[in-house]
Amino acid sequence: MCGIIGYTGEKQAQPILLNGLAKLEYRGYDSCGIAIAAGDIAVYKDAVRVEALKKASPKLTGTSGIGHTRWATHGAPSQINAHPHLDCNGEIAVVHNGVINNYQELRNRLIEEGHTFVSETDTEVIAHLIEKYYGGNLEEAIESAVAEMEGSYTIIVLIKGESGLAVVRKESPLIIGLGDKENFVSSDVPAILDYTDRVIYLEDGDIGFITRNSIKVKSAGKEVKREEHKILWNVEEAQKSGYEHFLLKEIHEQPKVIRNTLGEYTREAEPVTDTFGMESADMESMLILACGTSYYASLVGKYIIEELLRIPVRVEPASEFNYFGHTLAGGVSLAILQSGETADTLRAMKKLKESGHKVIAITNVVGSTASRIASHTVYTRAGPEISVAATKTFMAQLMALYWLALSFSRLGTRKLSSLRNELRQMPGKVQQVLDGEESIVEHARYLSRFENVFFIGRGMNYPIALEGALKLKEISYIHAEGYAAGELKHGPFALLGTDTPVIAIVPGDNTYEAMLTNIKEIKARGSPVIALAEEGNETIEELVDRVITVPRVNPLFTPVVNIVALQLLAYHTARERGCSIDYPRNLAKSVTVE
Ligand code: G6P
Repeated sequence: MCGIIGYTGEKQAQPILLNGLAKLEYRGYDSCGIAIAAGDIAVYKDAVRVEALKKASPKLTGTSGIGHTRWATHGAPSQINAHPHLDCNGEIAVVHNGVINNYQELRNRLIEEGHTFVSETDTEVIAHLIEKYYGGNLEEAIESAVAEMEGSYTIIVLIKGESGLAVVRKESPLIIGLGDKENFVSSDVPAILDYTDRVIYLEDGDIGFITRNSIKVKSAGKEVKREEHKILWNVEEAQKSGYEHFLLKEIHEQPKVIRNTLGEYTREAEPVTDTFGMESADMESMLILACGTSYYASLVGKYIIEELLRIPVRVEPASEFNYFGHTLAGGVSLAILQSGETADTLRAMKKLKESGHKVIAITNVVGSTASRIASHTVYTRAGPEISVAATKTFMAQLMALYWLALSFSRLGTRKLSSLRNELRQMPGKVQQVLDGEESIVEHARYLSRFENVFFIGRGMNYPIALEGALKLKEISYIHAEGYAAGELKHGPFALLGTDTPVIAIVPGDNTYEAMLTNIKEIKARGSPVIALAEEGNETIEELVDRVITVPRVNPLFTPVVNIVALQLLAYHTARERGCSIDYPRNLAKSVTVE
């Protein structure tokens, strides 16, 4: 995790670094800092958010610098443990995204050799290692230091007296932004989008040397050329555009996200047949690996694919699969990840490739590590998602999964074409949910008083109950659990009562009668019930305390409208409780550690 940024050019570095860090906070935000070279190296850092650092930091003059926003791994968030870290003489500054696995051994050795450490971080060894090898030749020093490090270490290095920056990419993303007499380095695109849309994606193991006028990249000791790419995201997409929070803006962007993502897989209204890099023969069974919200999208995918293709689909959290997953050699599997960088999912992808699997990645980030590992990549078109809690990327993943299932389904042409048309109506249906936001605000006000909530659903709305509960807990800090509706009576009933509301997802499909029975059982035990039900359902109002209405859609597409209502409910509940919505405590958007 962590966000890193670097600048070298003709402008003052400080504002560029601080603005960039503010856009990288989704990667971690327990502390932050900058280092600027102007003759000597000046560092300013603290265990505060970037906005506070901006206000407190003195003016540091200089046109080359580096910055960092942290998600702590080694050492608690504190001023001392914040990056940048320095060598003994304060002449080498380093920012780091990753974990040095052998840092203890290196640290002990460096201490024996006379180096003094001040922090508890693994990163500090990097500055001291470079110091050990630096005798005026930057390239040699970086290469020698890297040769001793084990683990993941994407770093930017600033050295007194050197013009520019040195960078290394190892297992976390790093891009170089190309400007006119200036160049940028960053963990991700939004941080530099204000200045340039021309980027180079570094590859794993690359070492780069960047001045205002030149870029030199080496891989395995040899100079290499990395292609320049143009970024399609625009500045507007990475800004709040008048919304109070990124999360709310991203929830509201979902009609567009559906259109863009489906448009990606269709040309002149016809499906693009090679979109998924798979053939019908690959479709005898399916394994899907993912983490977090992407895992819940994958679970919805299981129901969709099993329904439309009648093949068994196995879905596992990548973190479990890495230790316990057994697969047959060969086959095709899917890895779903919005960031393209989640360490557990990347590891699962490598494991599958080693066992001869063709791995298809579904991701939102062009040039991400996942796309480099995958045999084939399918992009979702959600645009940049800044808020830590995933919303529009989940929606885009659902669209990719629907389209995949519809592309390989053996249903008749007419039925398939009608389903595709219904799917294309989803932007309008989602907009209807968004238009009903005011009534959801009122339900959220009510919900915000409780400390424990259950979400229940059946079939493809069971994962929606899981995702609805995840959204609520991560942004409002209310303890929420998603349950398969039929399972609630096997234990959790012991927790029901007037202070434990249950949110029940009640589409008008074949789960309807069973859901009504569950709701009656819950009401009999005193819990308030909020039902998520289709417009025109008058029966439900008599059974429950509150109803959130969503438009009626084909049963296959009910997850699409239901999740939007639950996202809005979570958002407004968190807002009512005064929580830090875009940056919830202890979390990060891109989890690059195991
Ligand atoms: C983090 C984010 C979640 C996300 C998860 C998986 O925990 O906070 O929002 O769902 O990572 O991310 P991925 O990139 O693998 O989809």
